[in-house]
Amino acid sequence: MKTLLIPIYTILLLNLLWHSCSEPTINKVSIQDQIKKEAVADHAGIASAHPAASLIGLEILEEGGNAVDAAIATQFALAVCYPVAGNIGGGGFMVLRNADGTTDALDFREMAPGAAHKDMYLDPEGNVIKGLSTNGHLASGVPGTVSGMIEAFDKYSALKDWSKLLNPSIELARNGVELTIREAKALNRYKERFEKVNTRPSRFVKNSEWLPGEILKQPELAQVLEAIRDNGFDGFYKGWVADSIVAEMQRGGGIITHEDLSNYEAKWRKPLIGQYKGNTIISMPPPSSGGIALQQLLGSIEPYDIGNYGFHSKEAIHLMIEAERRVYADRATHLGDSDYYNVPLEGLITDEYNNDRMSTFDPQKASLSSDIEAGTPVPYESEETTHFSIVDEKGNAVSVTTTINTGYGSKVVVGGAGFFLNNEMDDFSAKPGVPNYFGLVGNEANKIQPGKRMLSSMTPTIVLNSDQELKIVVGTPGGSTIITSVFQTIVNILDFEMDATEATQACRFHHQWLPDATFYEPDCFSDDMIKSLSDMGHTLKSRAEVTGGSGLIGKIETIIKRADGKLEIAADRRADDTALGY
Ligand code: GLY
Repeated sequence: MKTLLIPIYTILLLNLLWHSCSEPTINKVSIQDQIKKEAVADHAGIASAHPAASLIGLEILEEGGNAVDAAIATQFALAVCYPVAGNIGGGGFMVLRNADGTTDALDFREMAPGAAHKDMYLDPEGNVIKGLSTNGHLASGVPGTVSGMIEAFDKYSALKDWSKLLNPSIELARNGVELTIREAKALNRYKERFEKVNTRPSRFVKNSEWLPGEILKQPELAQVLEAIRDNGFDGFYKGWVADSIVAEMQRGGGIITHEDLSNYEAKWRKPLIGQYKGNTIISMPPPSSGGIALQQLLGSIEPYDIGNYGFHSKEAIHLMIEAERRVYADRATHLGDSDYYNVPLEGLITDEYNNDRMSTFDPQKASLSSDIEAGTPVPYESEETTHFSIVDEKGNAVSVTTTINTGYGSKVVVGGAGFFLNNEMDDFSAKPGVPNYFGLVGNEANKIQPGKRMLSSMTPTIVLNSDQELKIVVGTPGGSTIITSVFQTIVNILDFEMDATEATQACRFHHQWLPDATFYEPDCFSDDMIKSLSDMGHTLKSRAEVTGGSGLIGKIETIIKRADGKLEIAADRRADDTALGY
């Protein structure tokens, strides 16, 4: 890789000069105090991963912007104040349910560059080269976020005013954002990884440790946001920003070209709509696997009276694990970008199919993943992340999940433009059967092809009650655990009758077929429960012990519209997520 040829001391020296002009500014008012986990609102609400982004979104709602306006402003704000996952260098999905009852789904997932090919991460012996699809320039797909926001604006914005939507984020980038404890720690933890892949100094690396409350200024990012505000699509996908991305690619051995950028297109898709116990589930079709898998999971457990089993009873946990095991086996074989692969979408979500998949379910005993293969649905005739949920005063609801994949994406900051690029290429199957970063395996359906979108687990979802009224807006980051987290939160609300806070903060567990184990959050299950499930044949693992991190699963943002018309807004306790409303 060319990056290795860049003398490390040059980068260190440049970094020193870059940050030497100013001593760190520490804010007296702690951003920590602005983190709010719940709100009850009469009119509108928002929950996102960062208090500054939630506040910007809320102000847009208060100024008469609709849910899409607030979503656009929030997305750009997250790109500034939440660089670990908020982005303009990544992609995502938006699911909408408008107050007039219409629904829509926007796909702004990253695309494989034109020069990508199925063996691009393999060595001459055909083995996957560790790290090539996750770190550095070759890991990035063509970013889709900016195109997605422009599409959403053109079709749904009520304000029709880019300055109103972007200026708050431009100011935030230029004047600086106060670092939370979590962000300061993350930037310090990733420092070496940033230095290893970057070809230019960046605002995210300095010689001393980042401190909580310190101000992170991003003037280059402010200029990029101004270019988008003033020139729309061309401001990012053409002109000096595109030149910077391509120059960055050339310096670091990446393959994204001007043509890849100018050809990028966000796509409107038909939302995936299904039923669960009289409720309507509106979610994302391929290239997300989330919507299909969620419908399959709910379909698989629907015949069982899980509400009466009780939250985290042995019976409920066992049933949900067995559904998860079967659905993730299908995901590995059948799901990919439906523009490139014939996804048997209709076949996978029928009750008949999922009941058949569950016919081997034994209420007393765990199945073995080695005995579970993907099913054979009727062929289709005719696929660190962040989430925010918004409901506006008129009742329009938007559920948005966007990603640069793992924390800080590829770790590459575009020189002169100041934003991280994604490492989404790892969401493709680099080689059949070889697990990706999230341990997910894939096959033909999700192989790399130029222009194709990598399979995602993102599951932005909206649920309506049996009267077709808005009930839940929900979603989460978390890689492969996204689907199971959304599934469990919906079941918490619909079956275990929890409110938004209880459903969001409840502990979670996850099974994804392979590896054949159920991963649980710290303090999730008692020793007795672990023994009981183990006696049934389940392998249970503390996620913290396996990953070495916190072992937490997802960061759910939930809004529930209650029968009395009020909005319950809940932001996950697991990070800096903030719920606001008015
Ligand atoms: N990058 C995580 C996902 O899209 O599933």
